[in-house]
Order: sequence, then structure tokens, then C-alpha cells
Amino acid sequence: MEDRERLAQLPVRLLAWYDASARVLPWRENPTPYRVWVSEIMLQQTRVEAVKPYYDRFLEAFPTVEALAAAPEERVLKLWEGLGYYSRARNLQRAAQVVVERYQGQVPASFEALRSLPGVGDYTAGAIASIAFQLPVPAVDGNVLRVISRVLARRDNILDPKVKRRMEGELAGVLPARVGDFNQSLMELGAMVCLPGGAPKCLLCPLREVCLGFARGVAQELPVKAKAKPRRVEERTVFLLFHGKKMALRKRPAKGLLAGLWELPSTEGALTQDQAREFLLSQGVELVEGLSPGPRAKHVFSHVEWHMTAWTARVAGEASGFTWVTAGDLREGYALPSAFKAFFPSIEEGLKG
Ligand code: ADE
Repeated sequence: MEDRERLAQLPVRLLAWYDASARVLPWRENPTPYRVWVSEIMLQQTRVEAVKPYYDRFLEAFPTVEALAAAPEERVLKLWEGLGYYSRARNLQRAAQVVVERYQGQVPASFEALRSLPGVGDYTAGAIASIAFQLPVPAVDGNVLRVISRVLARRDNILDPKVKRRMEGELAGVLPARVGDFNQSLMELGAMVCLPGGAPKCLLCPLREVCLGFARGVAQELPVKAKAKPRRVEERTVFLLFHGKKMALRKRPAKGLLAGLWELPSTEGALTQDQAREFLLSQGVELVEGLSPGPRAKHVFSHVEWHMTAWTARVAGEASGFTWVTAGDLREGYALPSAFKAFFPSIEEGLKG
């Protein structure tokens, strides 16, 4: 069975299960946009049981967006005391002020507008949009990542944002009309049945018959959360080669890091002065005087760190194999990636000739 076909079977099964066994929770009764919003902020990183008493007190104190927006911050924080992650409370109040000022106190009925409020990320915007407004958007949190990884027996790393985006796209393709209940049923299954680690209650699960993780006996091993590998450190030597009012650039290969962009001529390793001179000779570069050391610099990419040694020189001619550019060219058409930012002052100086 294809993944899409498998996912398409979830709504009917989950909604029937949800109707029969969903917990009765304060924000599920009378799910006004404001009430749903407050609940989703409180539920970020926090268990339902811990949230319940706070939720009721908070809504009693601030029954409307206007009341929350106008409250002294101290009072908001006091009511949040013990719930943790206090920036949530501050952001919630700031967002309430935005809603009052920009949207006349009406929580906006659009994913993008919700997403732009302080404290509202993709998951929370999706949850509010779908639960409060029935807008057809997914709401993928840690619970949902776990449930779907198991249903599809996926070993993708759920800490990778691409994996989450892909899942959002796949779920978007199978959303039923009762989208808010569907999204909540996925969260609910994750919280009550499809428990993390070795504890899933597969025998009670309404998705057992369509769950590939269960069929293969691997549900307990999923999902995979792979911490990012430590970045590889690459020593490089960078050359600032000047001839008159021009300097040497090179184009990077069409594939890989900084693909197709301009760069300072460089090579692997941290070359000593003698090694650097030899390397330049092999590239057909003739030095006018000696090499002087440039700044040491570091640049961090997602998977690699460049630790750069630099040598500066004036050279006898425009050696072929490089592109020779002026300060004007650099400003207008030959943007250097910011990996080389540490060298910009030396470049500026050298291009004066
Ligand atoms: N966790 C986050 N949002 C939730 C919701 N609406 N219901 C249950 N658990 C949740």
C-alpha cells in the first residue's frame, strides 16, 4: 500500500475513535478562537493535566482578548506561575495587544495571520486555524510526528525540519471536513495510545490494522530522533591576490557547498608560508614580493566549519585560471559569500592598488 493510501484511511478511523473516547477538556467545550488559542499556548511543552487548572483560572481572570491585552503584565505572569516557560505568557499578552490593535479584537481566521503573532509557530497556527476556524491545515507536533512515523514505519529523523514539512504536506492531502477534530484526534492518539518509547498501547489502537510499524513489529523503535552530527572542521587556506586595482576570484563548482558562487582562491589545509608560495607557483601565480599573513577566520555552515588561514600577496600579472575583478565589479556583480566576510576589510584595502 502506498503511503498516501495508508494516510487516507486515518480520518474515518480516528474520528470514530475520537467521538467515542476523546477526553473532555475545558477548551474542547465552547471552542471559541480565543479559548483555543490560550489552550494551545499553554499546551506547548506542557501536559494536559498540568494545564487544566491554569486554564480555567486564566480564562476566569481574562475572559476576552481585550481583558488580556489590557491587564498588567504582573497579573498575567502571576496566573502563569508554576506553568513554566514564562515567555509564553509575555508573548500571549503581546499577541493579544496585536489582535486588539490590528484585528479589532477578533482572532484572525487565517493561518498566515495567526502564524505572525508572537508565540505562534507552524504547529500552533495550524491547531488554532483548524480547531477554531475549520481551516484545512495540518497541525504537526511531536505527538503527530510519532504517530505518523509509526503508521508509515518511517525512519526519517523527526528532528529534521524537512521531515516535518514533508509530513505536513502529506497530511494536508488527506484532511477531512472535520479538520479540527481530526488534528486533535492525532494529538489525542499520541497522548493516550501511541505513547513514546516502549509503551505504545497497540492493542487498543484504532489504527492497528493500517499501521505499518505495528505490522512490522517496529512501532516501539520509532520515531527516530537523530541528534545532528557534529560539524566537520575543514582547514582551508585562502589567498588574497592583488594585481593593480584588481584581485583574483574563482567560481566554485556547480554542485555542493556555495555551489556556483564566486570565492577567494583557496585550497585545503592550513598552509605555511612556504607551502603557500609553492601552491601559488603551481597555479601559475608569480609573486611580486613575499606573502603576508591575512586574518585567521572561521565560518560555520550547517554541516561543515571552515577554519581559514589567509595569505595576501601582490602578483606580477593576471594569472589565467582566475577572474580578475575591481572594487566596482565586486560591488556590482561579483558578490562574495559571507563566509569570506572576515577578509572584506583586507580586500577593500588591497583593491586600492
Ligand atoms: N496538545 C496540544 N493541543 C492539544 C489539544 N488540542 N488537545 C489535546 N492535546 C493537545
